[in-house]
Amino acid sequence: LFKEVLEDIIGSEKMEPWLKKRRNLFLEELIGEGEFGHVRKGVLREEGQQAVIVAAKTLRVDRANEITYRDFAKEASLLIEVNDDGGHVNIVSLIGLVVDGKMKKDPRYILVEYAEPGELHWYLVNIQNNRYQADVPPGLGRQLTEVAIDIAQGMQELKRRKITHRDLACRNIVLCSSGRRDGRLVAKISDFGLARDVYVTTQYMRHPLTNILLPIKWMAIESLIEGVYSCKSDMWGFGVVMWEIATLGGTPYPEVCGYETLVTMLRRGRRLQKPSGCSEEM
Ligand code: ADE
Repeated sequence: LFKEVLEDIIGSEKMEPWLKKRRNLFLEELIGEGEFGHVRKGVLREEGQQAVIVAAKTLRVDRANEITYRDFAKEASLLIEVNDDGGHVNIVSLIGLVVDGKMKKDPRYILVEYAEPGELHWYLVNIQNNRYQADVPPGLGRQLTEVAIDIAQGMQELKRRKITHRDLACRNIVLCSSGRRDGRLVAKISDFGLARDVYVTTQYMRHPLTNILLPIKWMAIESLIEGVYSCKSDMWGFGVVMWEIATLGGTPYPEVCGYETLVTMLRRGRRLQKPSGCSEEM
């Protein structure tokens, strides 16, 4: 079904070049867990090619339904669109898709480049925890500003392609050290939707009417109320991302825990404030 849905969205000519064989994928440890599948580190070994380390996002077919299939296929199709002509440095690279299988219940995979040190949110929280041990990396402010600029550039590319992300948040940004001589980390936009880490699942709440899990504290008012998304609502999400960066992985509106409360508060004009210690430049 996944293959059919994907073919439906993107067309078979666009999809075919990305298909990888299940037998060439060697999965390793779990790096994240979500509602309908998990993310594993893995290696793709194809004949005559260099082995590639990947992050494999799984769709567990036994837990999936029509909607999750669509979401998964949608994410894959967006990644294909962005990566079809070489991709962008600030958007995670697609390596391939695994949709073949002898058994109907074989999981499907989206393979993306493996980023080291990985998730931005995790990275920020670690810096915050190490602060009291005086182990803050030198030039931290500059590094964080560069991360924010990277994300903005990735977003600009999404806008250029008329793609809305809908789930921009530090948990969905990865940091990459590879390929740079100066040691600077490169931030890349990842997770156009599905796999969510266990420790952040609390950040998604069910909409009272639709029962869909939503990242409410990252959502623009118009998305919360009318369900409309645009590059402008992604921009709101970017504002929250900036706030997360400046607070080293803080939780936005920590006292708020429900959809209604958040909507009421935002309607009254309450907004996230410039955090203490946040530079003017940021
Ligand atoms: N966690 C989630 N996505 C990842 C990626 N692409 N690389 C490393 N860790 C990840």
